Amino acid sequence: MISEAVNHFGKVDSLILNAGLSMWTRFDQITDISLFNKITEVNYQGSVNCVYSCLGELQKNRGHIISITTAQALIGFPNASAYAASKHALHGFLETLQLELGNKINISNVYLGWIKGTNLRANALGSDGVKIGSKHHKHSSRAIELEDCTSKIIQGIERNKKTIFIPYFLKFIPWARVFFKNWLFNKIVSVTNQEER
Ligand SMILES: NC(=O)c1ccc[n+]([C@@H]2O[C@H](COP(=O)([O-])OP(=O)(O)OC[C@H]3O[C@@H](n4cnc5c(N)ncnc54)[C@H](OP(=O)(O)O)[C@@H]3O)[C@@H](O)[C@H]2O)c1
Repeated sequence: MISEAVNHFGKVDSLILNAGLSMWTRFDQITDISLFNKITEVNYQGSVNCVYSCLGELQKNRGHIISITTAQALIGFPNASAYAASKHALHGFLETLQLELGNKINISNVYLGWIKGTNLRANALGSDGVKIGSKHHKHSSRAIELEDCTSKIIQGIERNKKTIFIPYFLKFIPWARVFFKNWLFNKIVSVTNQEER
């Protein structure tokens, strides 16, 4: 795929890691543990494979890797053990890559909250490792419109931002985690309970 892109466009200078697979089940209710492999394979290993295949091109062109990730890459989240773990792993991988390569490439992380209008919830895996489909829980009023999300991502990429938080208040998670950990964890649990209603 990368060779085809180089043949067609002459170079690869941007890689957007967007593919993602989610879940919605507590860990103690999982009946098919292969759910972890499926999610890790897409969210983590799939991204590593893409980076591996075009790193030479990206280095040659001072390229840009943009990871479309989630606040769950920064903090655990109920009903999303494999998803949060795979996004934490991707975060650690990209941070290490940035340390190893310095300014030879740019790496940006886009941390998303809940976004309306995509298939993430319908495609999410349930406790039996099968897609939830139309039975998925509906979005609350807190979810962001897809168009708002995509235009903020494009704006952030154009401005070469290292981190983009959508919605913006997610920016406070790492800080709140240090200073108000109990409050933050209670808030996450209560938000998840509301989502399940
Ligand atoms: N929507 C949200 O609320 C939300 C929140 C936080 C983070 N995110 C992140 O945003 C990214 C995009 O998700 P989305 O909301 O747009 O969900 P989506 O509508 O389900 O899109 C997921 C994308 O991943 C691709 N994909 C899934 N499994 C794949 C596989 N095995 N191989 C190759 N491609 C695969 C899908 O390709 P096909 O269409 O070809 O299947 C699709 O393009 C994900 O990384 C997700 O974690 C979304």
